[in-house]
Amino acid sequence: MGSLFDFMLPELKSPMTGASTDALMAFIHIVSFIILAGVTIAMIYFAIKYKRRSDDDTPPLITHNNKLEVTWSVIPLLLVFIVFGWGYKGWLNLKSVPDNAYEIQVSAYKWGWTFSYENGAQIGNEVHVPAGRPVKLVMQSQDVLHSFFVPDYRIKQDVLPNRYTYVWFQAEETGESQVFCTEYCGTSHSDMLAKVIVHTQEEFETWLAQQNTGGGGTPVERGESLVNLQGCVTCHSVDGSDLIGPTFQGLYGREETMQDGTTLTADENYIRESILDPSAKIVEGYQNQMVSYEGRLSDEDISDIIEYIKTLEE
Ligand code: CUA
Repeated sequence: MGSLFDFMLPELKSPMTGASTDALMAFIHIVSFIILAGVTIAMIYFAIKYKRRSDDDTPPLITHNNKLEVTWSVIPLLLVFIVFGWGYKGWLNLKSVPDNAYEIQVSAYKWGWTFSYENGAQIGNEVHVPAGRPVKLVMQSQDVLHSFFVPDYRIKQDVLPNRYTYVWFQAEETGESQVFCTEYCGTSHSDMLAKVIVHTQEEFETWLAQQNTGGGGTPVERGESLVNLQGCVTCHSVDGSDLIGPTFQGLYGREETMQDGTTLTADENYIRESILDPSAKIVEGYQNQMVSYEGRLSDEDISDIIEYIKTLEE
């Protein structure tokens, strides 16, 4: 965006998520400045022009002026519509993650961040990403509300316990950006910092391969073994065949019709809810027979199972 506003914001490092925000902010500032200047000049002009000059200077009695009132209502209304439409478009963009996004799991806690990769690597308070590729962060909290904020990318998203939220960005160049927790979460809230470290694609792959994966397998491998160990596969097939419950094959992203006729798209939050509170939503044509896995599976177990289900494409 124009250099006129550079002093107000840090350099934009993810134009795909931030360009619209910056342009809208510049627009609001320009409009505000024009209105401020117009009102101030008009005030000074009227104060001088209609100054009381003698004692018998009686002002005329004016009750209303339709033209003027319509003008000062319609113009602000139009401006509000422009700001709303522009903001809504930008918000939709922030909510529409590109298909080729690289996914990283984020776990927030008092007071830090853990980032988990597809190969099982986990790293604290540093998230390494490739440049020039969209990155999606699927986030949850282990305790209270936190919020993931990267000023350089113009992204900010609350991170909640018992529910997944996500953000995406695309850093165009290698380098570092600061992450802040921006929801007050207790004593060390202001120390709950992390860094985004952007590598070239090649460097990123090398970095990822060098990380310690803990020997416990990748999230997908752990998810697969949990699904077998916990007996999920007794009722949910992984090959598309129909058992007591809906098949896991192709489940992620599938449009499901519920018993009450409503439809939804199976995402992380839906799968999580179905594991912890199976009776909340029953897919049409199936019975309410499953018991809750609350207390039997940890948050990490559930995330691993979801990662595994995501791989079961049709
Ligand atoms: Cu976490 Cu503030």
